[in-house]
Amino acid sequence: MSQAQAPSPGGRTAHPEHIGHVIFITASAAMGGFLFGYDSSVINGAVEAIRDRYDIGSAALAQVIAIALIGCAIGAATAGRIADRIGRIRCMQIAAVLFTISAVGSALPFDIYDLAAWRIVGGFAIGMASVIGPAYIAEVSPAAYRGRLGSFQQAAIVVGIAVSQLVNYGILQLADGDQRGKLLGLEAWQWMLGVMVVPAVLYGLLSFAIPESPRFLISVGRRERAKAVLADVESKDVDLDARIAEIEHAMRREHKSSFKDLLGGRFAFLPIVWVGIGLSVFQQLVGINVAFYYSATLWQSVGIDPSSSFFYSFTTSIVNIIGTVIAMVLVDRVGRKPLALVGSSGMAIALAFEAWAFSAKLVDGKLPGTEGTVALIAAHVFVLFFALSWGVVVWVFLGEMFPNRIRAAALGVAASAQWIANWAITASFPSLADWNLSGTYVIYTFFALLSIPFVVFFVRETKGKTLEEMG
Ligand code: GLC
Repeated sequence: MSQAQAPSPGGRTAHPEHIGHVIFITASAAMGGFLFGYDSSVINGAVEAIRDRYDIGSAALAQVIAIALIGCAIGAATAGRIADRIGRIRCMQIAAVLFTISAVGSALPFDIYDLAAWRIVGGFAIGMASVIGPAYIAEVSPAAYRGRLGSFQQAAIVVGIAVSQLVNYGILQLADGDQRGKLLGLEAWQWMLGVMVVPAVLYGLLSFAIPESPRFLISVGRRERAKAVLADVESKDVDLDARIAEIEHAMRREHKSSFKDLLGGRFAFLPIVWVGIGLSVFQQLVGINVAFYYSATLWQSVGIDPSSSFFYSFTTSIVNIIGTVIAMVLVDRVGRKPLALVGSSGMAIALAFEAWAFSAKLVDGKLPGTEGTVALIAAHVFVLFFALSWGVVVWVFLGEMFPNRIRAAALGVAASAQWIANWAITASFPSLADWNLSGTYVIYTFFALLSIPFVVFFVRETKGKTLEEMG
């Protein structure tokens, strides 16, 4: 029996007639993920021009880039409260407006401070999108499909990363290979940052075409509207009144919705919130974004010519997409935990190979042949294992693991911790690499290994359960 027909433990499967509509709703919400991937990686193509245009040193440039991640952390922390107060859809619309104005502002800045300010605004929008996508998708998905639908967020993120690389490449070609080359009155790097207006506006428009989350509607007493939305997304044989009663019951059983309800006991946050934070932080501590943000530097150290480094960064993105598709197929079949464990093991092995390769003595500032090849292959294997596991699984878990009333707020805290961890890893990489590149990979290997007992002992499988069965 295929997974699509297999009843979930809760006995709920979506009727195939509806699944097309559910996919449209999910894909529209996942546009936020596309913007997340696009905006966080687009800057790579523009850095050299920004350094040159504003005559700033590497340290100042790194600050301008890293500051956007702080905007992400603040946006994520705030999104939960906004989503609980005014709804998931309104929250998406605010993010879409912020993405749009940040794209225009970043493309036409007065000075470097203005540019940094617009990057913070864009970061804020990315942070919001990183929370609202997984929460909304989990809340509209039928249980049997929730993992696969939840994976749309990560799929959109990885496609966003790849598309930004392609668009940057295309713009660069039109500007004669020069990031500061002129194109219709603007410089190439300005186009790179400005083009994001297109997906941002599309995201805003799509948000008007999709319904509010039924769980949010019930939490504000709009029972009839919630019933209509559920009728649209759940299977025909689901008793909608019983389903709504179950959600209402679960909400009454849980605490009321407020940030304070995330707190419990001596360790401040509730244990479940800590597990969410742990998942988020481990996802970053393995160094995944070093592979994306610093790819050109890494390729050059294995002897690849700067002009071909675009090609290898792009192959990494393709591997990232392939791994994500594998995870989408498997996440509702084998479950989230087995995928995470396979991913951690594969990443640890690949990272250990990288550590070994980078321990070789450099010849003319480059790795010798064998080690260079090993480093190149290991980097791709690492991204593959990340993509088929932690990339997808963490965003799926974060969308579904928290009880209804604290979902958005708890997801906000966990995502915010993830952005801080992302910032800590990417901001520390240049100094760590100067200290010892091999040692840096040993640290990432250690975190990949440590994530195994964390998943085994602290994380509960969520596959097939309804959100209400999770509380
Ligand atoms: C996940 C991570 C993000 C990373 C991406 C790479 O979405 O949260 O930080 O850039 O995967 O695919």
